[in-house]
Amino acid sequence: MKTKKNSAYISLKESRKIIKYNIKQMKYYESLKRRNSEESEYTSVMRDENNILEIDGLETCFFTDNGTVKAVNGVSFDIPKNKIVGVVGESGCGKSVTSLSVMQLVQAPQGQVTGGQIRFNAAELGYDGEGKKRAYDIRNMPTKEMYKIRGKDITMIFQEPMTSLNPVFTIGYQLDEVTLIHDPEATPEKAKELSVEMLKKVGISMPEHVYASYPHELSGGMRQRVMIAMALAGDPKLIIADEPTTALDVTIQAQILELLKELQRKQGCSVMLITHDLGVIAEMADEVVIMYAGRVIEKGTAKDIFHNPLHPYTIGLQKSKPLINSDTNEKLYSIPGQVPNPINLPDSCYFKNRCERCTGKCDGAYPPEIRVSDTHSVSCYLYDEKRGG
Ligand SMILES: Nc1ncnc2c1ncn2[C@@H]1O[C@H](COP(=O)(O)OP(=O)(O)OP(=O)(O)O)[C@@H](O)[C@H]1O
Ligand code: SF4
Ligand SMILES: [Mg+2]
Repeated sequence: MKTKKNSAYISLKESRKIIKYNIKQMKYYESLKRRNSEESEYTSVMRDENNILEIDGLETCFFTDNGTVKAVNGVSFDIPKNKIVGVVGESGCGKSVTSLSVMQLVQAPQGQVTGGQIRFNAAELGYDGEGKKRAYDIRNMPTKEMYKIRGKDITMIFQEPMTSLNPVFTIGYQLDEVTLIHDPEATPEKAKELSVEMLKKVGISMPEHVYASYPHELSGGMRQRVMIAMALAGDPKLIIADEPTTALDVTIQAQILELLKELQRKQGCSVMLITHDLGVIAEMADEVVIMYAGRVIEKGTAKDIFHNPLHPYTIGLQKSKPLINSDTNEKLYSIPGQVPNPINLPDSCYFKNRCERCTGKCDGAYPPEIRVSDTHSVSCYLYDEKRGG
């Protein structure tokens, strides 16, 4: 629900209207999660079975007292098997909300996935009668079904491990729990053996000692290694890493990223790597998704995005990256202006008020996604299907 355009003031009447609307919406979406659905209602088929995840037109809203925040507004991208996909964009553009939507962890009841489809390619579902790879349709999965894949097939590494690790349990207890929950046949001895093995894998030199330690007894870098061990323990197919190294110092950051990449290659899983740091993306990602104000504005392989950036925002992001070997004393470039208010988004291009290349066409509807090559697409009126690739 939109509030009156360009007005910070909400009248009592309008406020009541918003609350009434929010309650109705929240009740509706919450009731969908509790219903007992047949498997056919929460399964679908993959567009390409080489993808582990396909996000199509995802919409996630927060029903707030000021109106409906469109945090994610029609996001579409794929995560291929065995690849690292980097998701970049400035603060508040919807990176975390996209990943939380995939995990069904958006803060409910205010936050709800209201549109689109998230398809997860689960091996156990096999193929349908027409030979198409079946997939879970995560948006329609009842909560109790989601427990089967969350934390096992899809895991998450957060920015600050201290908030994800429980301070009152040892690292060993928390690691064993992952195995014991997802493998009902595992004995406590087997779980411990696997946990110590995982700690070794993530480069912890005294795994038995760390196994018996509490989170506060470890350094930030070690805690993040434990989080990676935990994320890998269930042999996941997809790891979502949301700013996994932002809280660490630069040298530890490089070590952790290197470790994540090495383990991803060894275990053969995919990673959705969320960051605002283009340097991290350049080092790590096979494919890149650039987000702006809840939308994907450009996507392509790392080569497409770094060697041939097309959207004026992507070009601006690259210009605003500090260069260590720059010998000029020029001030660092910053993109002027602000992101539009997510409650009152314009009907035209969201970047228009900050864009230096704006033309008459840009006053029209929001620009459609243009495929400039098989791997590269952009939403901007400066390009058409034949140009720019
Ligand atoms: N619980 C919430 N209630 C209301 N709005 C929210 C909530 N969580 C997120 N939002 C809004 O959703 C939008 C997207 O937020 P999100 O956390 O996904 O941004 P982000 O791209 O991850 O940013 P950052 O780089 O700062 O982590 C923002 O406008 C934010 O204010
Ligand atoms: S559509 Fe127009 S305003 Fe939007 S980014 Fe492209 S040139 Fe700039
Ligand atoms: Mg975030």
